[in-house]
Order: sequence, then structure tokens, then C-alpha cells
Amino acid sequence: MKCKITNKMINPFMSFGKMPIANGFINKDQFSEEFFFEMQVGFNEEISLFQLNDHPKPEKMFNNNYPFFTSSSDYMKNHFRDYSMFVKKFIKPDSNIVEIGSNDGTFLKNFVNDKNKIIGFEPSQNVAEIAKKNKIPTLNEFFNKKSVENLNDFLNKTDLICASNVICHIPNLTELIESVDMLLSKNGTFVFEEPYLGSMFEKVSYDQIYDEHIYMFSASSVSKIFKIFNFALVDVIPQPTHGGSLRYIIKRKGNEVSSNVSKIIEYETKIGLDKLSSCLNFKIQCEESKKKILNKINSYKKNGKSICGYAATSKSTTILNYCNINSNHIDYICDTTKEKIGKFSPGMHIPIKDMDYFHKNQTDCVYLFAWNHKKEIFNKEKYFKGEWFSHVEL
Ligand code: SAH
Ligand code: TMP
Repeated sequence: MKCKITNKMINPFMSFGKMPIANGFINKDQFSEEFFFEMQVGFNEEISLFQLNDHPKPEKMFNNNYPFFTSSSDYMKNHFRDYSMFVKKFIKPDSNIVEIGSNDGTFLKNFVNDKNKIIGFEPSQNVAEIAKKNKIPTLNEFFNKKSVENLNDFLNKTDLICASNVICHIPNLTELIESVDMLLSKNGTFVFEEPYLGSMFEKVSYDQIYDEHIYMFSASSVSKIFKIFNFALVDVIPQPTHGGSLRYIIKRKGNEVSSNVSKIIEYETKIGLDKLSSCLNFKIQCEESKKKILNKINSYKKNGKSICGYAATSKSTTILNYCNINSNHIDYICDTTKEKIGKFSPGMHIPIKDMDYFHKNQTDCVYLFAWNHKKEIFNKEKYFKGEWFSHVEL
């Protein structure tokens, strides 16, 4: 893939094989027309950026059937309440606030009673509708130059732009940053959080890689990318969400930079997070992880144990398809999302059931796909007497 920022070719260092749309839960009559793409990953050493080589068009993923709702996790609702408290220091009582990828409005909800003028950009119509129903001003559009250029009230007058788990979904980072530049006021702040490359390497949680996650960021990559556009990474704060994320705070260049930035970048340099060599090591670890989980599942099956999956996460699509785990191994996957229940998992076509089904049809072992929500889930399922397992440490 050609890097859209540096305009140089990046050669993939690893392929996970053919992958379907990670959130593309389907009915039986859609099996024959299912879309697949070759999921390869590469590393751009110039800007230390881990990225997919190719990805489906955003419209294929973010449309009227997007089945992810931020509010499906109570833990995330609390996280976004705390996040809204954190960013209050960047705004005045009458500041304009923008959120990119505002989903069902879980984050922006925390600002509706204030005097601030707010707007969320959310291209997936079904989730945008929920936010609108809850009276959260939402534009059902992708965030880009075209969608911001006529927002006269917000152009150069937005004190805060927030985003979570969405910047890694946006293929054209140049246009993204230029659009941020168009909106942001002189002293404005852009805050975003994304899954952290360092955590993915540490946990070998390669399931973070799927069609929507075009990039895996680090403080090194974010700092280098924004510098090109005259912005600076002024602070960076680790977050426990999504298996380990970083919150990046960006301002126009010339602002004071916290010592957190140099500390994290030094750490990343020390562990080689800015180098292709750490990716090659990660590749070997992914292959080992695949062997290990297949051995585990095959040994359960040999001993006559039944297995189900817990939470039909987008991440599970990578695991199931890369390891070729299908309904011969896993009887069903349970999930709380009504849009997924009754359908089949992308690629491997494992049936998705509701939680009632899980409680009535308990298996000997449960593969926890939502390992990043384990606290919340173990608390809910404390009466389950079988064995939990996953490809990452639980
Ligand atoms: N911010 C929420 C949702 C993350 S999922 C959270 O952290 O829970 C990513 C969301 O971003 C989806 O709702 C998707 O429809 C939206 N999205 C994808 N591409 C986008 C783009 N270019 N501009 C704005 N939103 C986008
Ligand atoms: P994600 O990993 O793609 O964000 O999806 C999380 C999925 O996990 C979503 O489909 C909802 C599901 N889930 C449950 O089924 N039960 C739970 O307790 C939690 C927290 C999530």
C-alpha cells in the first residue's frame, strides 16, 4: 500500500489470510455472496506506523447495519463519563465541541445540558438515529473536508474535538488532520484514544487487527504524523480500555509539552516499537499463539468437552478466520447485541445466540472473545462453573 502521508510504498510483512468484514454478521442466504479480502499488515518505519496493506471501502463497513453500540458496555459508559470530565479543562462554558465517530451518543450525552454547542459525526445511520432520538446533535456523515466545510459556526471556532476508537478507522489521515485543522480554534485541542500498538505486542492480541482498524498507533507514530501538519502531541495518557489504549492530546505547535510524551516515546524506542524488527517478532508470536489455541481447543474436543464463545466481537473474526476455528469446534457464540443474534459469524458461520440461550445451554468451556471486558463479564457470569479460556491471558 502507498502511504497517504509519505507517499511511499510499504511492503507487508505478514498476512492473516482471507478475511470477511469483521462486523459483517450474516444470514444463511448471504453465505454464498460473502465478501473477503486478503488481510496483510505492513510497517511504515518513516512514521513508525503499523497499518493494513489493503482494506474494504469504509461504506462497506459503516452503513445502516453497523452492529456496534458503545452503550453495550456499562464499563465503557462510565469510561466516557470520566473522559468527558477530563476534557472539561479544554473548554469554556460556551465552547463548540465536535466528536468524530460519535456512535450512539454515549460520550456527547455528557455535554447536552451544558451551554456548549455540540455536533457528532456518525456515518452509520442506525447508530446515528439512536443518538438523534436522544436529542444529541448528530450529522449522519463521515468526518472529512466536505462534511465540515459548510459548518460556518464551527470553522476555526471549535475548542475541542474528541474521538475514540475511530481515528484508526479513517484511511486518509492527511484529510482527517486537515479537516481537524479547519475546525479547530487557535488554542483548540484535539483529543483521541485508540488501541495501543505497545499493548497489542505485549499481549499478542493480534485480534486487534481487522478491517476497521487500518492503523495501530503509538506515541511515536502520532507524534511524527502530527508534526508534519504543524501540530504537536502535547500529552499522552495510558487507558485500560480495549485491552490497552493511549489517549493522545494534540494542539497546534508552540504549546507546552508534558514530560509524559518524551517518557513514553523513550520507552517505545527502547522496546523497538518504532522499528520493523519488533513487527517481525510479533509475526512469530502470532503464529505461536495460533498453534497454542488450536492445541487447546483440539484437546478439549478430544476429551469430549463442549465449547461456546462469549461475545461475538469484531476481534473474534480475526481469531476464528486466521485459526480456522468453526462450528465443529465452537457450538455457538452468545452476545447481547440484538442485531447479531440469530445471525452467523463472519467467515466461519458459527451461530450467534442470546444470553438466555447461553444460560440454558451451558458448555464445559467458554472462549472469552471479549477478553477486554473480562471484569464486567466475570462479574455478570459468576455462577458459570465451567472453564474460561482465551488466546490472551485472562
Ligand atoms: N467512539 C465510539 C464508537 C467507536 S466505533 C466508541 O469508542 O465506542 C467507530 C465509530 O466510528 C462507528 O460508529 C463508525 O460508524 C464511526 N466512523 C467510522 N468512520 C468514520 C469517519 N470517517 N468519520 C466519523 N465516524 C466514523
Ligand atoms: P467489540 O469487541 O467489537 O467492541 O464488541 C463487543 C461485543 O461484546 C458486542 O457485540 C457486545 C458484546 N458484549 C456482550 O455480549 N456482553 C458483555 O457483557 C459485553 C461487555 C459485551
